[in-house]
Amino acid sequence: MPDLAINIAGLHFKNPVTTASGTFGYGDEFLDFIDIGRLGGIFVKAVTGKNRDGNPYPRMAETASGMLNSVGLQNKGVDHFCREIYPRIRDFNTHIIVNVSGSTVEEYVEVAARINELEKIPAIELNISCPNVKLGGMAFGTVPSMAEEVTAEVRKVYKKVLMVKLSPNVTSITDLAKAVVDGGADAITLINTLLGMAIDAERRRPVLSTITGGLSGPAIKPIALRMVWQVHKAVQVPIVGLGGIMNATDAIEFILAGASAIQVGTANFIDPAVSIKIVDGIEAYMDRHKINTVADMVGALRTE
Ligand code: FUM
Repeated sequence: MPDLAINIAGLHFKNPVTTASGTFGYGDEFLDFIDIGRLGGIFVKAVTGKNRDGNPYPRMAETASGMLNSVGLQNKGVDHFCREIYPRIRDFNTHIIVNVSGSTVEEYVEVAARINELEKIPAIELNISCPNVKLGGMAFGTVPSMAEEVTAEVRKVYKKVLMVKLSPNVTSITDLAKAVVDGGADAITLINTLLGMAIDAERRRPVLSTITGGLSGPAIKPIALRMVWQVHKAVQVPIVGLGGIMNATDAIEFILAGASAIQVGTANFIDPAVSIKIVDGIEAYMDRHKINTVADMVGALRTE
């Protein structure tokens, strides 16, 4: 039997398949569909310092091979998370990783410090890449000095595994990756969504209330693969790859490009059981190719 276990910055995952923040709620919404204990981990919905109502509707639009969203980090804030959500999900038999978002460095630090106190949360994913908010979000993830600063400030208060989620809306993804590693990131998640827009020609209006939104789904996979491959060559920390992963073959491509683990995002909206099918598909591939461990596949792309 191939061994699907992987290690990210000292944290043991039973397999490399996790679900992307904002596409899988807090995990308990999926209990009727799958055994979530079979997942490597769940990246839960973004948590900010205070309640956020999110952007006005419409904030989703289907596109060719993808979808646009402009949710705007809707959540009830870190107090609510700690009081109401955490007790509900703390004993899941998989890693629960919290996506930490904010509008200011102080807010990121405040949320990270609160989550640090939660015993059963072994890691956070610092979201410096949300394209749908006026303040913060992607603004921190597109300027290397700002990305390094927010990472370094959070590093001072967050004592467990610190992952940083990068935006693809940059000229040089490796500059951003190096900046967050310099700031103290233990691992990098990439990519978040690409800034896009949709137009209703009959009405001569944008489809989304915010005009622009984040594009995800199969349309962005080639860009995500390219960025994972570039970052894998540029930094030493593990990568969690995402961007249009719809099946096990897509997931394996990300691992070959250099990802130690992957996130399933948009595909969850189509098939709530897709993540489990991806676990099974990776195992079947390893069996067929006589690969013993996932680590043997990470970055094993043949380029010569
Ligand atoms: O709008 C949103 O809530 C999206 C967040 C993200 O892409 O990080």
